[in-house]
Amino acid sequence: MDFTKLAQVQLSHDTNIRPFKCSEDDLNGFLFDDAKQFHKELMAVTYLIEYPQEDITVAYFSLLADKITFDPENKSVWNRLNRNIPNPKRRRSYPAVKIGRLAVHENYTGEGLGTFVLDSIKYAFTKVRRLGCRFITVDALSSASPFYERNGFMFFTESDKDDDTRLMFFDLRNFNI
Ligand SMILES: CC(C)(COP(=O)(O)OP(=O)(O)OC[C@H]1O[C@@H](n2cnc3c(N)ncnc32)[C@H](O)[C@@H]1OP(=O)(O)O)[C@@H](O)C(=O)NCCC(=O)NCCS
Repeated sequence: MDFTKLAQVQLSHDTNIRPFKCSEDDLNGFLFDDAKQFHKELMAVTYLIEYPQEDITVAYFSLLADKITFDPENKSVWNRLNRNIPNPKRRRSYPAVKIGRLAVHENYTGEGLGTFVLDSIKYAFTKVRRLGCRFITVDALSSASPFYERNGFMFFTESDKDDDTRLMFFDLRNFNI
């Protein structure tokens, strides 16, 4: 796939959503049943990735504001995270953007598209910089956590290691292109 030909469309109430299917039914359902409602209520913004030649949505993701907060039970993670932040700027919480949903069409997985989408989010919050945002967070499906790890995300706690989803984060100061 030629990534330079991909178009990113912000979903709105009248967007015609091209067909999409991934391996997770919840994520298919969100796109067609919930995304416009989240948009209307200002609870999340969804972006569609389209490939002009194909009448399908090749990937989509949604974003919402978040923060990452000190948890006394996860002191070691917090200390590691704080090591990257100069002393005068250290806080008990930091601004973040949450990836509420991220999915790649089942015909296009394993081609680097998920990584491309993550890089575009990292770029948007470091180079374009509409607001101060230090971390990306995601409640990653356990099955997808290796994908996030490959892309530099870390686990926030070990206490969710047997859950269906795991809280992960990425320090945007580590993004260099
Ligand atoms: C998870 C998902 C977004 C990954 O997208 P993708 O385009 O297939 O990922 P990439 O091709 O960019 O993969 C990047 C790396 O992660 C690895 N990877 C991707 N998905 C993986 C998975 N589920 N388990 C283990 N490794 C995975 C790839 O092998 C690749 O490794 P490499 O750099 O050594 O080659 C996609 O498979 C998907 O949409 N799955 C269904 C929905 C889902 O689980 N979404 C995540 C919700 S939190």
